[in-house]
Amino acid sequence: MELKNKAAIITGAGKGIGKATAVTLAQEGVNLGLIARNRDDLKALQSELSGTYGVNVYFASADISEKPAVDEAIRTLTASLGGVDILINNAGFGQFGTIIDMEPELWERIIQTNLMGTYYVTRAVLPVLLEQGSGSIINISSTAGERGFATGSAYCASKFAIMGFTESLMQEVRKLNIRVTALTPSTVNTELAVKAGLPIGDEDRMMQPEDVAELILATLKLPDRVLLKTAGIWTTNPQ
Ligand SMILES: NC(=O)c1ccc[n+]([C@@H]2O[C@H](COP(=O)([O-])OP(=O)(O)OC[C@H]3O[C@@H](n4cnc5c(N)ncnc54)[C@H](OP(=O)(O)O)[C@@H]3O)[C@@H](O)[C@H]2O)c1
Repeated sequence: MELKNKAAIITGAGKGIGKATAVTLAQEGVNLGLIARNRDDLKALQSELSGTYGVNVYFASADISEKPAVDEAIRTLTASLGGVDILINNAGFGQFGTIIDMEPELWERIIQTNLMGTYYVTRAVLPVLLEQGSGSIINISSTAGERGFATGSAYCASKFAIMGFTESLMQEVRKLNIRVTALTPSTVNTELAVKAGLPIGDEDRMMQPEDVAELILATLKLPDRVLLKTAGIWTTNPQ
């Protein structure tokens, strides 16, 4: 798919994988709608990308776990962009603890953000894609969406759920020229990984957010007749 002058909405665009994806898509001439909670991160990225690449960049500060805020953000971004072609469902967070140690409120917040937030954003954007009869949705899951591990019950449940959500939505819309994909990265060198105490090891050999952004770009560039259902992305850094 030719990406120049397309419009993409990216959630969790203030940092990490979302920010790297915004930079990569701006380099391709894609106009952007950015979502995260921290307005300063988004404002700084907006001026950097519009100044450097001459693309239109809009942002909305919203918590994706809150449906009314999501609906409003998607409504204003879609209006500013004049449509949407690409949705990158990337916003999410991970915290870890045993089922007994983790407070139910935190367990619920992980599900509410990673699963329900992805659902709210998708449900708000999908009518636009259905109306125009084309589009791509990429959901950022994780290797934690393929394998459970001790202390990962909430995070893994949220990311396994994203896999089921992705496959079901893919089956709903694949014949309507809308591609839905889940990517499952292992550890990426971002604030999320550092805060969670995940082993980063030798930074030069650890997968960087820009590497995931490259896979997102390659996925979007596939010919319209090709649908990447899911792709794992691992680091070669031995941990
Ligand atoms: N890093 C890894 O090792 C790794 C591996 C596999 C998958 N992933 C997945 O990749 C995605 C991005 O992670 P990352 O490592 O890039 O994390 P990150 O560096 O912490 O960035 C996360 C971004 O999401 C935003 N965000 C978080 N909660 C949000 C909410 N409730 N509403 C709106 N925006 C929210 C954050 O901004 P605000 O705080 O300003 O809202 C930030 O911009 C996540 O879904 C994560 O589960 C990460």
